Amino acid sequence: MMMIRWCLLFVLISNCLQAQNRQEYLLQKNWQFIQSDPSGAMEPNFNDKDWKTVFVPHDWAIYGPFDRNNDLQKVAVKQNGETVASTKTGRTGGLPYTGIGWYRNHFDVPAGTTVSLLFDGAMSEAKVYVNGKEACFWPNGYNSFSVDVTPYLTADGQHNLLAVRLENKPQSSRWYPGAGLYRNVHVIVTQKAHVPVWGTYVTTPYVSDAYAAVNLKTTIDNTGDADIKVITEILNAKGEKVAVKENIQKVTHGKPFEQNFIVNQPALWSPEAPNLYTAKSVIYMNGVQIDTYTTRFGIRDIRFVADKGFYLNGKLRKFQGVCNHHDLGPLGAAINVAALRYQLTLLKEMGCDAIRTSHNMPAPELVDLCNEMGFMMMIEPFDEWDIAKCENGYHRFFAEWAEKDMVNMLRHYRNDPCVVMWSIGNEVPTQCSPDGYKVASFLQDICHREDPTRPVTCGMDQVSCVLSNGFASMIDIPGFNYRVNRYKEAYGKLPQNLVLGTETSSTVSSRGVYQFPVVRKGDAVYKDHQSSSYDFEYCSWSNLPDEDLAMAEDNEWSIGQFVWTGFDYLGEPSPYDVDGWPNHSSMFGIIDLASIPKDRYYLYRSVWNKKAATLHVLPHWTWPGREGQVTPVFAYTNYPSAELFINGTSYGKRFKNDSTTQNRYRLMWMNAVYEKGEIKVVAYDENGKAAEEKIVRTAGKPHHIVLEANRDTIAADGNDLAYIRVKIVDKDGNLCPADQRLITFTVSGAGSYKAAANGDPTSLDLFHLPQMHAFNGELTTIVQSKEQAGEIIVEAKAKGLSPGKILLKSGF
Ligand code: GAL
Repeated sequence: MMMIRWCLLFVLISNCLQAQNRQEYLLQKNWQFIQSDPSGAMEPNFNDKDWKTVFVPHDWAIYGPFDRNNDLQKVAVKQNGETVASTKTGRTGGLPYTGIGWYRNHFDVPAGTTVSLLFDGAMSEAKVYVNGKEACFWPNGYNSFSVDVTPYLTADGQHNLLAVRLENKPQSSRWYPGAGLYRNVHVIVTQKAHVPVWGTYVTTPYVSDAYAAVNLKTTIDNTGDADIKVITEILNAKGEKVAVKENIQKVTHGKPFEQNFIVNQPALWSPEAPNLYTAKSVIYMNGVQIDTYTTRFGIRDIRFVADKGFYLNGKLRKFQGVCNHHDLGPLGAAINVAALRYQLTLLKEMGCDAIRTSHNMPAPELVDLCNEMGFMMMIEPFDEWDIAKCENGYHRFFAEWAEKDMVNMLRHYRNDPCVVMWSIGNEVPTQCSPDGYKVASFLQDICHREDPTRPVTCGMDQVSCVLSNGFASMIDIPGFNYRVNRYKEAYGKLPQNLVLGTETSSTVSSRGVYQFPVVRKGDAVYKDHQSSSYDFEYCSWSNLPDEDLAMAEDNEWSIGQFVWTGFDYLGEPSPYDVDGWPNHSSMFGIIDLASIPKDRYYLYRSVWNKKAATLHVLPHWTWPGREGQVTPVFAYTNYPSAELFINGTSYGKRFKNDSTTQNRYRLMWMNAVYEKGEIKVVAYDENGKAAEEKIVRTAGKPHHIVLEANRDTIAADGNDLAYIRVKIVDKDGNLCPADQRLITFTVSGAGSYKAAANGDPTSLDLFHLPQMHAFNGELTTIVQSKEQAGEIIVEAKAKGLSPGKILLKSGF
């Protein structure tokens, strides 16, 4: 039976290969996995029957259990200003990501073909074996790498054993890195003469509304001095041919094949109109077709103008960006397109237009989505260069691997219109070393060599060092992490006359938690291990959102920011990282680990989303025991003024004003006094006319569960996801904002339960079990499609509540 399947696949691939000269497929199913280091595991005849069968992308550590001993460390985090070592808990999420794991799978290819394996990322120190022979080693767990495995294939191309050994050393990361084959593995089958992985480079040397010039360079390997003909069609988003060229050249001396095109009235790429094009090339050698290759690209013009700012397609704009780590909360690091798409959908709605992939190379699926959905990207490879931040961090590999890692990253993503700049690193200790500028210049030069079309930045935090030692003045775009109060000085001292907030804010908050009294505080800690959602709390090195928003608005040379962070992530639970267990996930996110927006989301939305009205009121209004006590009310809104009523009594109008940075962006009633009932905020437009109102009511007894899905139909591909927001409400539908009870889930029909998260940084509930405690009345459960169409029934139950139920569809 197995044999017949292989044969069918073989016939299929050979036929396709003759027709298209190239076949690419993913190895996702039937992987055997073990989390140990058995000897001989690379050998074809090794018995792996007792190993676990897993689907790749796979993150071996996300299933837990959480334990403070998993990542207990005694360290001083120098970049946070610490000089004495202290006990750190939850730094990498409290999950068992360290150790050694093996994966094994088989693949078939037609005999006599040339085969490369492409790993989108393997965590980490990957050793790849094919049929028992070591084919390659790649230490960086985030980077994509490929290996030509042709020499190791079986004679008939059948039943090749692929074995991958991965090792995560303790103290190798400052956040949760995930573990295993957490990104896709591709098999690429070509003829001997072919376009290698990332073999094209598209640039648009001239861009105007009337026309754009497009230059395509195609590398073709193993052609000797044969005559090569390439026919390339440029297709627009509808698949219509907008330009075509047929050229004949020899490709000798490693020079790529070059073609030029004119695209008239180009549809330019921007976050608001993410128009894409495709270059479809058919390649002939001595008159015979040998390969086909497709490159997606966009046409857009980027300019960074000293003193004036950043221009996209001739229009001035500021980066309204966020930094994100790569984990997907309850899904861990295992990549999933639907999860990424949901994250980006939430960010788009907030008005965010840019992503910094901090502090590592992204999954290619994220870059694809940024191209398609319209997000500018700053792609960043490193958190460490030659000087360590973590005992077992990348510094061990930097000297030998930095250039190879940079080249892969740059060639992989230099055709993507969403990428508008490269970053060479984040807060590297090297920035203060006397020779630091040499390392920076080595890396920046690699960027310029591989991609002269985009500038380079670097997230610098040691402002005094880099302003005086020449480091900041040699980076194309000086980028600062925090220290917004020093931007002006940097602007004055540096020759570039532009400043970017590579990392800003680091305000901390827990969704639905409000601490009293409401005062601005650095490093505030509380008995409940939460931070306040009044958005007044930050770390010793950081600040509140308002300051960064004002900086970008007030200064032409300030080109915008990347907020730390869009989403909460696993690990780095500041301000509870010093012996603060059970905290194990960040509180920096604008959106929590359960993908539920915190109040802060609406603060950014009120400034960044110019297309929609925002009127958001906080806190909730269910405070038994606080009767008669001052309980400030804030409104995040883009209306200029609003009035607060508590049970019908006016607390007066508030107007946005410049008396303080907070008054500029928030309407605040610091004197509001709690009484049971309702608060109503009425917003007024520029003419003082009532334009919109929001009411928040005191909730009664918890009564039932409400389920709301982000999509009602998902694809029946076994991979697609629906995110379902679960709310505990009273009989009238008001959220019960203090309810923390356990909710259990059942999923039946054409879907299965995938995971849940509640956004509580102290929760030790396991994501993959079909039960979770609510956090302040809410959580999110995630349901996955099967490879069959039909109805998916999701039910949620909890003691003392009427259950919730929702029906979804899964279709082809
Ligand atoms: C920065 C650092 C980030 C994160 C952040 C927390 O200094 O670059 O990776 O640690 O602080 O505020």
